[in-house]
Amino acid sequence: MKKLLAVCMCAIMAAGLLSGCGSKGSVTGKDTLIVGTNAEFPPFEYVDDNGEPDGFDIALIKAIGEKMGKQVEVQNMEFDSLVSSIGSKIDLAIAGMTVTEEREKTVDFSDPYYTAVQYVILPNGSAIAGYDDLKGSRIGVQMGTTGDFIASEIAGSTVSRYNKGVDAVNDLLNERLDCVIIDKNPAETFVSIHSDTIQAVDGAQFGFEEESYAIAMPSGDSQLVSQVNSALKSLKEDGTYDQLVKKYIGEE
Ligand code: ARG
Repeated sequence: MKKLLAVCMCAIMAAGLLSGCGSKGSVTGKDTLIVGTNAEFPPFEYVDDNGEPDGFDIALIKAIGEKMGKQVEVQNMEFDSLVSSIGSKIDLAIAGMTVTEEREKTVDFSDPYYTAVQYVILPNGSAIAGYDDLKGSRIGVQMGTTGDFIASEIAGSTVSRYNKGVDAVNDLLNERLDCVIIDKNPAETFVSIHSDTIQAVDGAQFGFEEESYAIAMPSGDSQLVSQVNSALKSLKEDGTYDQLVKKYIGEE
């Protein structure tokens, strides 16, 4: 009896191991892709009037899912936890996410789909005009973003990290900050609502480098990466990509 039990246990464990291997296989085997985002980043992602995530990235990933013959389910979470959730809570992430060497250590990226740069949001009439003026200043950022990494390198800066970029902008309006460092398009969107008091300045003026947005996927899932890249390519070729840029981002 004991022997039989042992044999059974072995069989169960072997099956477990095998299915474990199976679950490590490509995400392309799934019918539904669970996509993580942080819907606090207009026009790429925001929560619409019905409480649903919408925006350029959301429309793009839905179109990619369609090309791949997959359903897409969007999960809204904090930006800072997206990368570490890939491969567990989510299958991939689209969130205006910049390709960085650090992130590439744990995830694989698609081909880039958008070029951006960090902008500096300043009160109208601010004396901050170049990189050296940022030294020793009070800077607001969204936590875990490239804006956060840039601000953290500025000598003598006091960096306040927010879960939402819009909260940093509110603290700038309340004069608790001297500036906010955030990506170009959200900067322009946030400023457009308060253009009587704040302005969005191109980060090139501060020496900030161009960044590329890409979709983050589990490291080593080359099948997923190639399917996403070919979907992206055909959306560029058939004009869908340009239509989405026009609809959500507008003319450059
Ligand atoms: N591009 C920046 C980064 O990758 C900011 C992205 C923030 N995205 C968002 N959905 N909140 O770090």
